[in-house]
Amino acid sequence: MLFTLSYISQIVGQPDGASMSALLAVSERNNRQRGITGMLTYGAGSFLQTLEGPENEVLALYDRIRRDPRHCDVTEIMRQTISERAFPDKPMAAHRLFRSTDFLLSVNTAGKGGNCAVSHMHSSFATLSARTRFG
Ligand SMILES: Cc1cc2nc3c(=O)[nH]c(=O)nc-3n(C[C@H](O)[C@H](O)[C@H](O)COP(=O)(O)O)c2cc1C
Repeated sequence: MLFTLSYISQIVGQPDGASMSALLAVSERNNRQRGITGMLTYGAGSFLQTLEGPENEVLALYDRIRRDPRHCDVTEIMRQTISERAFPDKPMAAHRLFRSTDFLLSVNTAGKGGNCAVSHMHSSFATLSARTRFG
């Protein structure tokens, strides 16, 4: 059964390019092995991540991620079974928010699976972030 889970969290500290690259490299390697795909958007002090894959793998990963000290206030915002992935070719796509328009473009090209709810959620996050600050 394919399953998806999304959460939002607060970034602890100011991650630099090198630490984000390291986090993404580990994520890609692990996710590829476990059949997990998804998207990590970050900016304005927050992460928004969508995980998708076999239910047991997604839940086990979410459990690990929730305890990661690089973020706090981890709040689940969506979980559901799905018939197809929104990010089928991406072990973990990542996008740093600079401008909300950049983000909309990237969701449209990354989210080929046609999961409108997921694309809409990431777009809303970008719009909200645009009203606060980027970084
Ligand atoms: C915002 C955020 C997103 C993460 N996403 C993933 C992920 O998609 N896949 C993953 O394996 N680890 C992810 N991690 C890292 C995990 O919390 C954990 O450090 C990692 O899975 C440990 O892998 P290792 O045992 O191979 O070192 C994420 C961490 C944070 C803070």
